[in-house]
Amino acid sequence: MDRLPVVVVHGGAGNIPKERSDKSRSGVCSAARAGYVILQKGGSSMDAVVEAVTQLENNPIFNAGCGSVLTAGGEVEMDAIVMDGKTLASGAVSAVRNIANPVQLARLVMEKTSHICLTAHGANQFARVMRIPEVPQESLITEYSRMRWKKNLAPAANPVECQMGKMGTVGAVAVDIDGNVACATSTGGLLNKMEGRVGDTSCIGCGGYADNQVGAVSTTGHGEAIMTVTLARLILFHMEQGQSVEEASDLALAYMKSRVQGLGGVVTLDPQGHWAARCSSLQLAWAAVQKDTLHYGINSGEHFTQGLDEPH
Ligand code: GLY
Repeated sequence: MDRLPVVVVHGGAGNIPKERSDKSRSGVCSAARAGYVILQKGGSSMDAVVEAVTQLENNPIFNAGCGSVLTAGGEVEMDAIVMDGKTLASGAVSAVRNIANPVQLARLVMEKTSHICLTAHGANQFARVMRIPEVPQESLITEYSRMRWKKNLAPAANPVECQMGKMGTVGAVAVDIDGNVACATSTGGLLNKMEGRVGDTSCIGCGGYADNQVGAVSTTGHGEAIMTVTLARLILFHMEQGQSVEEASDLALAYMKSRVQGLGGVVTLDPQGHWAARCSSLQLAWAAVQKDTLHYGINSGEHFTQGLDEPH
C-alpha cells in the first residue's frame, strides 16, 4: 500500500499560549520524525508510537512526563496507555508517580502482566520489579507548571472553562508497513486535579484505542467528558459505519461538545494510511509523517507541509 507507513502525533488540545507555540510545534514535529524513522526501517507501529510519546514526555513544554501539571496538593500523578491493533493487547498506568516515561511502563503492563491497568502505589511497585528507575518528583516539575498550580489553587466557577488553555496530553498513532496500527497516550492529567483522580488517558476506549480491523485513535482534552462519551472508541464506531477518519473524528468531537460540553482533539488513522488530526478546541499541536513529507499545524484548520529533509 503506497500510503504506508504513517505516524501522527499530538501535543495536546486547548489554547496554547503564543510564547509556547513555536516550541510546541517543533516538539510535535521532532516526535513525528522520530516515530517515522522507526517505521521507515521496518519497525512496528508499537515501537514508533512509544518512541514518539517518550520524546514528548521528555520535552518540558508538554503536559506529560517532565512537564506534567500538578495535583491540588502540588504533586505529579501521571496516566498513560498503549494499545496494539493486531492483538488488541493494551497496557496502562494511572496516578503513577516519580516515573520519567509512564508510556514505557504502560507498555510493560501490556507485555509482562495479565492485567490492563495498574494504578498509583501498585503501578510504582511494578515499576520497581521491572527495574524502571524512580526519579525525584522535582525533575518532573517545571517552573511553568508550578506557576500555573499556584495561580489556579482557588476553585473555579466552571471547572471545564478553568481547564481550557491548560490541557496538553500527548499521544501518537501509527500504521507500519505490515498494516498494523497502534496508539499511545500520556498525560499529567488535569491541572489541580484531586489526588487519586484517574483520567481518560489510562482508560481503554477513552484515551486511545487500536484495532487493525478499523484504525487507531489517541485523544486529548477534558478527561471527564472524554470518558463520558468513550471518545476513542466512538470515533472507531463511526469508521465502522463507513465514515472517513476525518468525518468520524469530527462527528465524535461534535457529539462530545453538544452532549457534555467537552472540548478536545484527536489523531486518527486507518490501516490503509488515511489519517486526520482534528479538534473542537481552538488549538491542537499535531504533526504527521507520510511518504517522506512532514505535515503539521496548531490552529484549528491549519495544515502545513514540508519535505522531511528540510530543516524545521
Ligand atoms: N485528557 C487528559 C486528562 O483529562 O487527564
